[in-house]
Amino acid sequence: MPSSRFLIDRLLRPIDFNSATSIVELGVGTGCITRTLLERMSPDCSLTCVEVDEEFVQACASIGDDRLSVHQACATDLKSVLSAGGVGAVDYIVSSVPLSILDDDLADDILEVAQSCLRPGGKFLQYQYSLTYLSRLTARYGGVRLGFTLRNFPPAFVYECVQRG
Ligand SMILES: C[S@@+](CC[C@H](N)C(=O)[O-])C[C@H]1O[C@@H](n2cnc3c(N)ncnc32)[C@H](O)[C@@H]1O
Repeated sequence: MPSSRFLIDRLLRPIDFNSATSIVELGVGTGCITRTLLERMSPDCSLTCVEVDEEFVQACASIGDDRLSVHQACATDLKSVLSAGGVGAVDYIVSSVPLSILDDDLADDILEVAQSCLRPGGKFLQYQYSLTYLSRLTARYGGVRLGFTLRNFPPAFVYECVQRG
């Protein structure tokens, strides 16, 4: 089931859309977060999306926005996707990859690569239906701001992690 508008609002709340110039989305699914990002982004901001599922990639690419590039790849390939597109360290990474159902090593690799692609002060934003990744994200980023919304099925936690300078 796609994320509710309440969860999307909560997840994207930390983003300063006036200053953001590069945003990444990991795991686009049907594109509900993608569309909201595009609505809020400035004309100069780029959105790079990475998704493993071919049908979702095609549906998302058909949104047809010049600021959007959609890539069929695993989130672990983010660094090479960005460098192929000439995008440097990014301001925000919005992730809905389902960490808790992925193999532990794969999930850790995704978190490692995502962190390496953020600029100092950049933010990694992730939702999860449980708190299983809170301690791992806290260890990586030295602290996590935790949000929660009941107005989603299922209710969800939101992690806001800031890349240290
Ligand atoms: C729970 S859905 C989220 C969809 C949408 N963003 C939303 O919030 O409703 C998770 C998405 O992550 C994608 N995904 C799973 N593993 C992935 C990976 N390793 N790399 C990139 N995308 C992945 C799935 O194909 C799916 O589209």
